[in-house]
Amino acid sequence: MDRRPRNAVAGLLMLVLGVVVVALTQTNNPSSATFELTAGEKDGGDETPPMVRRDRNLDENEGTTAPTTATESSTTAPTTVTESSTTGPSQAPPTWSPTRYQGPNPCEGKRPDLPNALCFVEGIPQTGEQAPANVTEGYLGLRDTLGVVPVTVPFWQVASCPVGVYWKLGAEHYSYGEYDETGTGPMEDASSDDVRQGYQCQHYDASDPKFTTEFDWQHCDGMTVGQTYEIQWPHSAAGACGTIWQYQHPFLDGVFCRDSVLVDTAAELGVQAQVFTVVNDDSYYYHDLMRGMIVDEYSDRGTDVAMYTGSYTLGGGLDNTVCSQFTPLTWHVDRKCHLISASSMDKLCEDMKRQSDDFITGVALSPQSARELVSDNLAANNQVSGGAGTAIGK
Ligand SMILES: *[C@@H]1O[C@H](CO)[C@@H](O)[C@H](O)[C@H]1NC(C)=O
Repeated sequence: MDRRPRNAVAGLLMLVLGVVVVALTQTNNPSSATFELTAGEKDGGDETPPMVRRDRNLDENEGTTAPTTATESSTTAPTTVTESSTTGPSQAPPTWSPTRYQGPNPCEGKRPDLPNALCFVEGIPQTGEQAPANVTEGYLGLRDTLGVVPVTVPFWQVASCPVGVYWKLGAEHYSYGEYDETGTGPMEDASSDDVRQGYQCQHYDASDPKFTTEFDWQHCDGMTVGQTYEIQWPHSAAGACGTIWQYQHPFLDGVFCRDSVLVDTAAELGVQAQVFTVVNDDSYYYHDLMRGMIVDEYSDRGTDVAMYTGSYTLGGGLDNTVCSQFTPLTWHVDRKCHLISASSMDKLCEDMKRQSDDFITGVALSPQSARELVSDNLAANNQVSGGAGTAIGK
């Protein structure tokens, strides 16, 4: 037991040390991508612009001898706009292609190499507290964090910006009555060999077409209407905030982008998580899921938030035996499950493709594997409640 303090401090020191080492050596080693997104399938067809429509427009232009009047030349363009906008806000424009700047990426390879470790050896914890935890109000884990506390104000108030975005198949966290073992979806278990499904929400209704009508995905891969997903936005005070390199894939390059900034990881690193069931209904459209968790008092989004310290959960291979050494950092998890339109998710994937760092070839556009809920002895005893948008403390 008396090794806990040293382990917690050692873990934190290792993180800081990792940054220093990376800073000193400027390694750019792809094999160190311990926490890269797990590989998944990619159909590769989503980048093809809809040439048919474009060709027809060209033909129309060719058929016109000359733009004799302003009216004639202007009729072709508005027609196109109307046509494409009727199919939904996420419909790819006729000449879609990623507009990405590809100069030197200042965050490339900044992720420290911290391999996964055994959670315990002879009963002695080898890493700090882990995620995903039970976020039901009142839950406290058994892991004594020895004074480490979560950030209890929105991350932007501690100068942290989102540096990545990805989503888990099902909810990785557990919120009783919202996303738990009684939740349902189009499949009881959508897991594959590589991707484990977490919990589902209570919203799914097989008799309501908005949960069952297929959506014509243009940008995301492997998504299903009616299915629950947990979107996660890692934040960092050492990100390239406000630049074209803010969003990184793998996100750890963004977390550790700026050298010599991080001194207290629980205070400077965080992850927002929000759970959604995807519906084919544009009245649930939200245009900008890049920015982070939706926080809106009027629609009751991001207003009941569990805050605790834990680890990153991305990369696979993590369970209650194998733990992440990327800890402690603050989690802000919306306890409620919300509906989101499929078009919002597809817009998110389109926005991801437009980032300067390459989100396309890294298979960042499909659901990631959910880690199993961590056992009580891996979960922090410091969970508190608040609303992420207001300045906290319920
Ligand atoms: C989650 O926490 C709540 C509140 O402490 C508890 O009632 C429930 O049994 C826990 N569920 C799981 C799966 O740990």
